[in-house]
Amino acid sequence: MTVSRRLFGSALAIVTLVIATGTGCSKSSNDIPVGAYLSLSGSDSTFGIDTRDGIELARQEVNEKGGIKGRKVNVIYEDDKSTSQEASNKVRQLIDRDKVIAILGEVASSRSLAGGLIANTKKVPMVTPSSTAVEVTKDREYVFRTCFTDAQQGDVAARFVFDTLKKKNVGLFYVAQDNYSAGLAKSFKESLQKLGGTIVVEKGYQSKETQFTTLLSDLKASKPEVIFVPVYYNDMVQIARQAKQLGMPGSMFIGGDGWDSSDLIEGAGEALEGAYFTNHYAPDVPWPNSQAFLKSFKAKYNHEPSSLSAQGYDAARLLFDAMGRATELTPEAVKTALVQTKDFAGATGTLTIDKDHNANKPIVVVQIKGKKFTYASQLMAQ
Ligand code: PHE
Repeated sequence: MTVSRRLFGSALAIVTLVIATGTGCSKSSNDIPVGAYLSLSGSDSTFGIDTRDGIELARQEVNEKGGIKGRKVNVIYEDDKSTSQEASNKVRQLIDRDKVIAILGEVASSRSLAGGLIANTKKVPMVTPSSTAVEVTKDREYVFRTCFTDAQQGDVAARFVFDTLKKKNVGLFYVAQDNYSAGLAKSFKESLQKLGGTIVVEKGYQSKETQFTTLLSDLKASKPEVIFVPVYYNDMVQIARQAKQLGMPGSMFIGGDGWDSSDLIEGAGEALEGAYFTNHYAPDVPWPNSQAFLKSFKAKYNHEPSSLSAQGYDAARLLFDAMGRATELTPEAVKTALVQTKDFAGATGTLTIDKDHNANKPIVVVQIKGKKFTYASQLMAQ
């Protein structure tokens, strides 16, 4: 390494340190400790980083207005490196070491299941902004979500395919062992079959797979009109590129919220021209709160927010709102206030927390057009 590179490296380290102390950690002992565990590195890092940006905007806004009950909010961020094991460790650490009164996280359902088990056992409320798998909140008194579930998302995707696109013969392609992917594939299948559609071919693959050509050829051979692929963006980039090589058009693919990353557009935007996916948000969604959020997000970060940022923002604002309504700033009182959340106006739609701690809210259908995510329609699950 040359001297100048080394100098640059240490300058960067100092800058990073200054930024880190300047954002989340402006703490005094009177600040309210809230934890956030996210995939800030590892395979799904854009999920975690975008979510943190949204949470930071909400934290800044609440603190600029004087904080909660006269105290500032301090969000302590932990990186679980996109693994479930680290998710459990970080939640334990936030509760035992940092004494947080509530927790935000995770994005991916598999990690929210792991972290949620610890939060629930230790009776500290956790709010996931974006984990949609049904089991995440099931029988867990202290776990909440501000997003829709995969039962709702699968139903909306199936109705969009059947009623709007008028397609009956559908293929399914998903990650066999992943809570999110397999769960969403199952919900979609059940709803489509109820509507009168047929799954003409179904393939589950192992996580970490990168070679999809053989499986895609098998799918293609069964002549589905469209293929539902509820996987994360990183897999979808490879799938879309390899499908293009096989002459499968982008408009043949339908996805779920796991597609939402600018990496998908950059890596496979052209190969997915015309594809649709269900999502929590779109930059051009016509909701008043979304437009207000878009403006303040752009002013802070100089780029458009992803859905993950909007969800992080909503989960943090909803939690802060509950903390403001809580009779005292304890995990138990915050949990009680979260249960009572009604008609909360978020950037990702207006939501009410139901008896299962899930959010009832509209679902957006996004289309990939000219390498951009564009709003197509919105539907409520039935
Ligand atoms: N819903 C996905 C899950 O539960 C996570 C996700 C949310 C991914 C939003 C992208 C966008 O695992």
